Amino acid sequence: MKVEYFESYDVMSKRAAEIIAGELNKKSDMVLGLPTGSTPLGLYANLIEMNKCGEVDFSKVTTFNLDEYYPFKRDDKNSYYKFMFDNFFGKINIDKDRVNIPNGEADDGDVEAAEYEKKLEDCGGLDLMVLGLGANGHIGFNEPEKFLIADTHIAELTENTREQNKRFFDSIDEVPKKALTMGMGSILKAKKILIIITGEAKKEAFKQILEGKITTENPATFLNLHRDVILLTDLKFNLKYEMKEKEREAFEICNFKIEKLNLDMRLTDVKFAPDNSKITFYYINPSNKMLDWGTLVGELRAIFGKQIEVIQVKE
Ligand code: F6R
Repeated sequence: MKVEYFESYDVMSKRAAEIIAGELNKKSDMVLGLPTGSTPLGLYANLIEMNKCGEVDFSKVTTFNLDEYYPFKRDDKNSYYKFMFDNFFGKINIDKDRVNIPNGEADDGDVEAAEYEKKLEDCGGLDLMVLGLGANGHIGFNEPEKFLIADTHIAELTENTREQNKRFFDSIDEVPKKALTMGMGSILKAKKILIIITGEAKKEAFKQILEGKITTENPATFLNLHRDVILLTDLKFNLKYEMKEKEREAFEICNFKIEKLNLDMRLTDVKFAPDNSKITFYYINPSNKMLDWGTLVGELRAIFGKQIEVIQVKE
């Protein structure tokens, strides 16, 4: 996973638009997966501008939206259908016949889900899937659960998600309880994934992605299994600070262990890998004697649960 940090939402949105434009310029008839929500609004605004200036052409692009409330009227002010046309499709040169959004008005939601999945496969699958992140780690409406579902399906919205979405409705009772959503497989089969993360509420879910442990309690952690994910976030500065705190803590723990194991080494620095998969300990070997730090590495691995690297540096 490639993580890019930005100092502002605007710069991040511009970068997201550039990534999509780059892919589009490589393959003008690409199949593009898209989210709704507050996160991609900046991205869509940038793409609309780029389209106006002739920098990107959507005329041959096929799109598949991630989700739609179910059952739900297309012309409801909160439908994802309306959201996409108001904020994006209505303002670019896309061929409306190539726009796919799960049909919230379908009589049979299960049939609609199966047909949507089939259409996605018939189109050759997604070249690029763009995602936002739910505060509870959901992607699309794949909510934290004991198990996740691979294909497009009807999902029950969690209370957390309904709470998050209630800002658009007059009351919580009006927030739908179900939605049609691409499944984890529909998303993870995309050739490339771009996830954009903004907002303090997402911090915990974002940190769990970086930790690299996969859990159905945070569906977005499954992105760690994909080969080509770009993650953009403006949550940079707090995280950097927290990383420093963690490094300080790791330094102290390691020093304590060195003392306990009576090792003749002096710790100089600790660094966490940006994706949090590895911790590197730097040390000086003052007497230049052979050191057996195998036990130390084992103990540190048991504490931190990630790859440990120990590097000798010169005084
Ligand atoms: C929207 C979707 C959701 C949102 C997520 C973040 O189509 O699938 O997973 O991406 O809830 O929403 P915002 O961007 O409003 O914070």
